[in-house]
Amino acid sequence: MIILGIETSCDETAAAVIKVIDGNKKVELLSNVIASSLSLHAQTGGIIPEVAAREQVKFIIPVIEEAMKVFRNPQEEIDAIAVTVGPGLIGSLLVGVETARTFAYVWHKPLIPVNHLFGHIYANFISEIHNSKFIIHNSAMPEFPVVALVVSGGHTDLVLMKNHRDIKWLGGTRDDAAGEAFDKTGRLLSLAYPAGPQIEQLAKTVEKDIYHFPRPLIDSDDYDFSFSGLKTAVLRETQKDEPLNSERISNICFSLQEAVFDILLKKTFQAANQFNAKSILLGGGVASNQTLRKKFESEVRSQKLEVNLFVPDKKLCTDNAAMIAAAAFFNNEATAWKKVSANPELYFD
Ligand code: KG4
Ligand code: ZN
Repeated sequence: MIILGIETSCDETAAAVIKVIDGNKKVELLSNVIASSLSLHAQTGGIIPEVAAREQVKFIIPVIEEAMKVFRNPQEEIDAIAVTVGPGLIGSLLVGVETARTFAYVWHKPLIPVNHLFGHIYANFISEIHNSKFIIHNSAMPEFPVVALVVSGGHTDLVLMKNHRDIKWLGGTRDDAAGEAFDKTGRLLSLAYPAGPQIEQLAKTVEKDIYHFPRPLIDSDDYDFSFSGLKTAVLRETQKDEPLNSERISNICFSLQEAVFDILLKKTFQAANQFNAKSILLGGGVASNQTLRKKFESEVRSQKLEVNLFVPDKKLCTDNAAMIAAAAFFNNEATAWKKVSANPELYFD
């Protein structure tokens, strides 16, 4: 079984090919191509949807062609096409969806609609990654029940998976996503967009949480999050009558990370304990943060939980099409390739 994945929900144009191996149990990544219009958006300090969609139009065919270079005759070798149907920017999504539909129609292949959030979760189910120089083998696969935390620029969601067909949304952000909190406060600190990676680097030079920003909803007994108040807290700090020098900026970055990560950790482990999770999965751009990864690792150790932590390879944390193809395979496995709903809302009812 070989699947071509296509992902165009935001500012990345991505195509990837996965192969199902090991008696239909594992997924191997054969190619993973990503073109990003991020540098254009960095000039405007954020994504302009019209600009992102136009870039998708430019790159979609070259990116798919590049991903299919692993085949001599892709039409013969590809069994199905998977595409992100949402959530995302509608102009960007349309480019991927209509391209995938055209390939599926002309090649007579099944088309599998995939929810972008599921993609971020299923990045953890890709076990063999072919790099130009080496092959990464990931022999362990997540065991159920799974608690998955998706933390990206658009989402902060906690999901419980009892199996591939029983997936329940536990909660999510009421306002800004975790990555969005980094990007918006980054703007207040005059950092480049997206600010997450730079906040991580600046925070590494600091050891003390000087500002101790608020941690909204940390003790609520639900799985909701709220990060928009952090912006206001940082804004107040920047308005103080003190020069905003590099030392203060780094201190703010550190305190900001501590506040966001404390909340993510608390809620995720609360869910893992409540549902006796055997695996905790992280996904999304914010999961590429090394400090966050280390905090989760040490929490697993200190709570002495019998739970395995999974975090995708850095390249598979941010938007990519490999995760979309993997989600298409595992989510359709039980329904024997029956077409699933194209309405992303239905996944979470
Ligand atoms: O998953 P992603 O590529 O796109 C969405 O689906 O949103 O995530 C992008 C987000 C941005 O908000 C970015 O600031 C954040 O992920 N991000 C990070 C890091 N790398 C990317 N946040 C914290 N630390 C990082 N190293
Ligand atoms: Zn994403």
